Amino acid sequence: MVFLRRVSLGKREYYYLFHTEKINGILEKFNLFVGEVEPTPKKLESLKANFLKSIQKNPQKLIPPKHPNVLATLQEIQERQGYIGELDFVKASKELGIPAIDLVGVATFYSQFKLAPPAKYKIKICDGTACHVQGSLSLLDILEKELGLKPGETTADGLFSLEVVRCLGICASAPVMLINEQLHSKLTIAKLNELVSELKTRK
Ligand code: FES
Repeated sequence: MVFLRRVSLGKREYYYLFHTEKINGILEKFNLFVGEVEPTPKKLESLKANFLKSIQKNPQKLIPPKHPNVLATLQEIQERQGYIGELDFVKASKELGIPAIDLVGVATFYSQFKLAPPAKYKIKICDGTACHVQGSLSLLDILEKELGLKPGETTADGLFSLEVVRCLGICASAPVMLINEQLHSKLTIAKLNELVSELKTRK
């Protein structure tokens, strides 16, 4: 399946299409940079169709170069400072001789890489089975709309990050969410709206 991902780096945003497919028995990861503006739904459909067509026609051409140092370089930066920023990509691009936009594409494919410093308020909402049947996706929807975030993103002011996790091990209290270390259980839409309003007043 092809999916679109928005990548925020500093004040800029980048949009990528991602797809995985087995080629000669190896699971290959494909990504395509589609611009700095979110494509309209119509444009997105045609981008996805063309992307899939090009992969089917000539996958080898689109398989990202397997430069042995790409992952090691990104891991080293991540370990050193906890995230990979815009300037780090530019610097690594010069060192490796690979366009920065391709490095961003690789980094965004792996959840281990963070593209922003840790947020002050790290929100983790559970979408394990128990939380899912209790409506976790409606709660996620509220968080996305109210904070202007998609899972995996951090607000530009560094205050909030949003992550979806699978089972926090307290299913009897579903649906649940963590804000940093603080647990919020048996959430309802009303409770969450109240919490979000309170969150927005925090600095
Ligand atoms: S499924 Fe959410 S805590 Fe277990």
